[in-house]
Amino acid sequence: MSNTPLKARKVSFSWEGTPLHWVPGDPFTTHTINVLHLLLPAGERWFVHVYKQVLPLIRDEQLRADVIGFIGQEAMHSQAHDEVLPHLRELGLDPTPYTAQVDWFFEKLLGDRTLPPGKARKWWLLERVAIIAAIEHYTAFLGNWVLNAEELDRRGADPTMLDLLRWHGAEEVEHRSVAFDLFMHVDGSYRRRARTWATAFAALMFLWQRGSRFFMANDPTLVDAHVSFKDFYVAGKRGTLPATGDMLRSIPRYLSRAYHPSQEGSTEQAVAYLASSPAAVAAEKRAG
Ligand SMILES: [Fe+2]
Ligand SMILES: [Fe+2]
Repeated sequence: MSNTPLKARKVSFSWEGTPLHWVPGDPFTTHTINVLHLLLPAGERWFVHVYKQVLPLIRDEQLRADVIGFIGQEAMHSQAHDEVLPHLRELGLDPTPYTAQVDWFFEKLLGDRTLPPGKARKWWLLERVAIIAAIEHYTAFLGNWVLNAEELDRRGADPTMLDLLRWHGAEEVEHRSVAFDLFMHVDGSYRRRARTWATAFAALMFLWQRGSRFFMANDPTLVDAHVSFKDFYVAGKRGTLPATGDMLRSIPRYLSRAYHPSQEGSTEQAVAYLASSPAAVAAEKRAG
């Protein structure tokens, strides 16, 4: 649990100057990271939806305050990624066919279902709280990665996109313990943690590779682009995407009984980035 209250920074970005391949000459890295703009708007809206239902089950005032702060941050993340989509559309890359599938996934498959009040409804709520804790292991992993991904700077990645990713990544690192603490508070069953990790991991891998294939196939500047696991592996070695080995090593950490998100990433680094992020600084000024 955090000592400093979590606050939503009301950032805004202008995308006019951001090119289609915002990692210059590297559409694969660009589009693999672009998948975030497809998954996060629906995914983080879903977090907020689920957490509003879980608030009445929280018996700890500090945790309740953290969850409310978390809700505020995720709602802002969702909106900020959503605002990239019209820009992609202007550049000739219409994400609607894919976002429609993602919306179905979160709203229908992971939605409320028509369960009567009682045991089944509570079970499904706890299941989703555990899924969110597992996903947040990965958002913190990615946040920590992007804060340290200096190779993207070296390759001249678009500064506005980097600031979006790092502002978001830093807030993910900042609030990385909330989802897990909430899961432990309302349930904490190890079997549920392991089971929902498998669900979350499989879903993320499935949606991610489909998303990057979708972007590569629909990029108006590419002909016959195909994506393979090898591209991902090579980009990970280069440092423009997370390294496969680091991703594999993060799995047993989450499944360890001694796991706590506070052991992952650095709050100091996250807070330092937020103090210098152009978007976060501008948001602070507007807030007065
Ligand atoms: Fe987020
Ligand atoms: Fe998060």
